[in-house]
Amino acid sequence: MNSKRTFALVKPGAVRKNHYGEIIYLITKAGFSLKAMKMVQLSMIDAQRFYAVHEGKEFYERLTKFISSGPVVALVLEKENAIEEFRKLIGSTDPAQAEEGTIRKLFGESVTMNAVHGSDCPENAVKEWSFFFAQKEILD
Ligand code: CMP
Repeated sequence: MNSKRTFALVKPGAVRKNHYGEIIYLITKAGFSLKAMKMVQLSMIDAQRFYAVHEGKEFYERLTKFISSGPVVALVLEKENAIEEFRKLIGSTDPAQAEEGTIRKLFGESVTMNAVHGSDCPENAVKEWSFFFAQKEILD
């Protein structure tokens, strides 16, 4: 398992407001290198599959509706200790609770519209980037 890599998603709210350029700039400024990147529009079915782990939770329908409401930017990122480092960079799930200077504090609007997603463990990182990218679309 490659713990030097993580998967990130810039969510529709941040893409709609044209914040994705600045978000990617902050990610690279923090020392991550981009190993894959694409902008895609997910269908409701795609969104339900991507967030299947949250099926049945109170926020599942809200979340899947939102994630399929407009284009997202999918990223594979590399840095030493990538998962933890990226979660620090984005801050708490709820932007209102996120630390100053974090991406969710800067660009998040609510718990659902929280600007970015980051994988929570190496196994999920692989699952999540495999959902968006073929192996040949990811740089070595
Ligand atoms: P994300 O990192 O994409 O992972 C799951 C998402 O569910 C989370 O960010 C939030 O945007 C969303 N979500 C909505 N409501 C909640 C909640 N009450 N608790 C946790 N996550 C929530």
